[in-house]
Amino acid sequence: MDRIRIVGGKRLNGTIPISGAKNATLPLMIASLLTPERLTLENVPSLADVVLLGRILGNHGVDLTVQGKRANGPGANGGNGVANGHAGANNHGFPGRIFHLQAEEIVDTTAPYDMVSRMRASFWVLGPLLARMGEARVSLPGGCAIGTRPVDLHLMGLEKLGAEISIDEGYVVARAPKGLSGNRVVFEKVSVGATHNVMMAATLAKGETVIENAAREPEIVNVAECLRAMGAVISGEGTAAIRIQGVDTLRGARHRVLPDRIETGTYAMAVAMTGGEVHLEGAEPALLQAALDVLVEAGVSITPKNDGITVARNGHALRSVNVSTAPFPGFPTDLQAQLMTLMTRADGTSTIRETIFENRFMHVQELARLGAEIKLDGDTATISGNAHLKGAQVMATDLRASVSLVIAGLAAEGETTVNRVYHLDRGFERLEQKLSACGAEIERLTG
Ligand code: EPZ
Repeated sequence: MDRIRIVGGKRLNGTIPISGAKNATLPLMIASLLTPERLTLENVPSLADVVLLGRILGNHGVDLTVQGKRANGPGANGGNGVANGHAGANNHGFPGRIFHLQAEEIVDTTAPYDMVSRMRASFWVLGPLLARMGEARVSLPGGCAIGTRPVDLHLMGLEKLGAEISIDEGYVVARAPKGLSGNRVVFEKVSVGATHNVMMAATLAKGETVIENAAREPEIVNVAECLRAMGAVISGEGTAAIRIQGVDTLRGARHRVLPDRIETGTYAMAVAMTGGEVHLEGAEPALLQAALDVLVEAGVSITPKNDGITVARNGHALRSVNVSTAPFPGFPTDLQAQLMTLMTRADGTSTIRETIFENRFMHVQELARLGAEIKLDGDTATISGNAHLKGAQVMATDLRASVSLVIAGLAAEGETTVNRVYHLDRGFERLEQKLSACGAEIERLTG
């Protein structure tokens, strides 16, 4: 199994191109189920999760071509520019590839356990399949490393649109033989996935749907823009109330995936950690203002430019901060682990409260192996600053936790090996290439 080896202590200097957002790409690919016509996506990142979703959609009948080559049908090598989940190995299309997805016919409305359990976002096929075919059978995703992650809000929302839902042998069986009907859907808790699922389903429902307490994440906005290009009638995305007027059919469209705000924030924190100056090319500050504000508070210099964001820390000590994660526009849970790593080097004690997922602290024990002092009390971590980090063998069971260990390794004394690299390949395109181009001593050890 691949590992990442890092020799810490090098400052980062240079330019890092920011890829298309994983968490927009996945629902955008799923949106292809809503139309028999071709959906073209630009700026698609080369990631293991994208490959896996391509295969899952292939089972439903979506024909996927990547840069003009068939990628998920019979005889395809499943490459999508990513070999065996190793992002970057065959990535000739960088920056950003073009995907054509076409579900001329839905050949299967079942999403099996072995697929959905490997990638939770594939559960989001439920709404689009139901809306287009009047039925869907999608495996419940099962357990997850970062918390229990139920799907009750997804099911409640689709039931409000008229679906009959039952659970059978671990599968959600949803039926709407006469089609879905628009309704008012009020989420008691903000959920990105449930908002995507219901928004996509409502595009083909009869009449108007209003989603209240909707997620406001930029990826929701990006998907709504794509759906509109496909002929959907949607307004209010990016606010807590999204209105969707159902239409009979959707058409093909061409759409660009927005830049990855979590990748942007991750590299910004890496630079803050090591010192140096890096331009994050293509990054958009508005997508992660809360995180940039925290970095400024910590003493990091952030300069928005026409084509990205320049991040610098030259000589200044890092100040401690107190942060709670929150739905957008708050500080993202997907940057919590990276900020925690950074705060191990701050001058003073910091606190970080995780309010989205109840179990998203698995990086704490691994950071301790590198010399960090972090105390956990319920949903709050207290991080002692000025830690002397020393390289060690570490691993994590989640994508963002894994990358927080990479950031720690960049600043630790000596050699750090991060195991279970497949987590990183799920969400960070060409991580080692991007960092080594800026002076990091980092390499992938294969096998
Ligand atoms: C999305 O997950 C992201 N995934 C996650 O990123 C991200 O951490 C999360 O949103 C929060 O921002 C993708 O976009 C593919 P939620 P999602 O539904 O949609 C509870 C990463 O590292 N909840 O917004 O699954 C849930 O348990 C990943 O890229 C219910 O109670 O998250 C959580 O506490 C990890 N019932 C909260 O809501 C439900 O039916 C928010 O979860 C659904 C969710």
